[in-house]
Amino acid sequence: MTIDPTTAAAEISTEAFAANIGAISELVAPVTVMVVAKADGYGHGLLTMTAAARAAGAAWLGVAVPGEARAVRAAGDRGRLFCWLYGPGEDLTDLVAADVDLGVSSIDELARIVAAGRRAGRAARIHLKIDTGLTRSGAPAALWPRLCASAATAEDAGDIEVVGLWSHLATAEDPEHRSVASQIARFDEAVAVAHSYGLKPELRHLANSAGALGLPKARYEMVRGGIAAYGVDPGVDVAERAGITLRPVMTLVAHLVQVKAIAAGTSVSYGHTWTADRDTCVGLVPIGYADGLLRHAGNAGTVTVNGRAVPIVGRVCMDQCLVDLGPQPTDRVGDRVVVFGAGGQRANDLAAACGTVGYEIVTRIGPRLRRVLTSGKDAPIGTSPPATTRRGD
Ligand SMILES: Cc1ncc(COP(=O)(O)O)c(C=O)c1O
Repeated sequence: MTIDPTTAAAEISTEAFAANIGAISELVAPVTVMVVAKADGYGHGLLTMTAAARAAGAAWLGVAVPGEARAVRAAGDRGRLFCWLYGPGEDLTDLVAADVDLGVSSIDELARIVAAGRRAGRAARIHLKIDTGLTRSGAPAALWPRLCASAATAEDAGDIEVVGLWSHLATAEDPEHRSVASQIARFDEAVAVAHSYGLKPELRHLANSAGALGLPKARYEMVRGGIAAYGVDPGVDVAERAGITLRPVMTLVAHLVQVKAIAAGTSVSYGHTWTADRDTCVGLVPIGYADGLLRHAGNAGTVTVNGRAVPIVGRVCMDQCLVDLGPQPTDRVGDRVVVFGAGGQRANDLAAACGTVGYEIVTRIGPRLRRVLTSGKDAPIGTSPPATTRRGD
């Protein structure tokens, strides 16, 4: 059940997506850019974005969970695809058979993938992960030599092919943060250890968008770019400092469904948390927190109506919210409201008002809002694969 796109929709520009991928690729060249499309293509539509990334020249795609990798393969994609977050009970045989590269953080995971490869009748392609300081997944430094030794033995036996060594940065948007240099140094040490066990994979990858844009030393052979490809700055002015311009890929729009005059002293929405201090007009916007407009935006965020920013007043409801259009507005029912994106504020601006990050703003857009391709053909509905395991960010 989706909302009629003439009422509210998430407009998706694959052209902007391609331009962003092009800008990032040019900046980091000759380093390879893996385009990350987890979490339903950062909320933009998994299969639309993976197809668009390939069309923009992406040789590598990255997803978090097996269900996402399966959906990409089921759609006919046969290019390089990396998947790194799976549950302890998940059978990965079909992923190995489908030529999906898998991240490996422990000897237990390695053993499971060796077994999956044997069942699939082929060597599994793996990327060994070292925890360099994010303290999330990845082998701790103390266990890294054992993991390398086991991987070398499995590779010699023909059970696996070690394609990559990788890790993930904690504070890449702040190049001066001391953890940046420390993570790069630990990563280099881990690579040297892997080499000492005879592992010579073709790829090292450490950087996310912020690292790709702002930390040349962290680029190695490949970077994993997610949020920047979707046109959202990974931090504050990270893209500007890198000298590139990112275009928003998603524009969240709605059309005013009601405009009504209220008298000074009138309170609006649940809890009556906002009261008009003058005679004014409020507009009803048919997007609510079930559609991803965070409840925190009430009395904090703005939207753009006919080119001007107007405040969201009162509580954001499940399906709708109210904006203060001011006294005697010229705005009418049916006028376009830009919540964020082209012609409005950035996702990061709304995020700041809500005390969160642009990542959360775009990935929270609910399934009820159609993803409408601005180039013409609508994005397929229901591209999200079933949630099979945990998700990481
Ligand atoms: C392991 C991994 N690599 C790459 C990315 C992409 O990060 P970003 O969207 O900041 O580019 C993510 C996302 O958080 C991630 O979890």
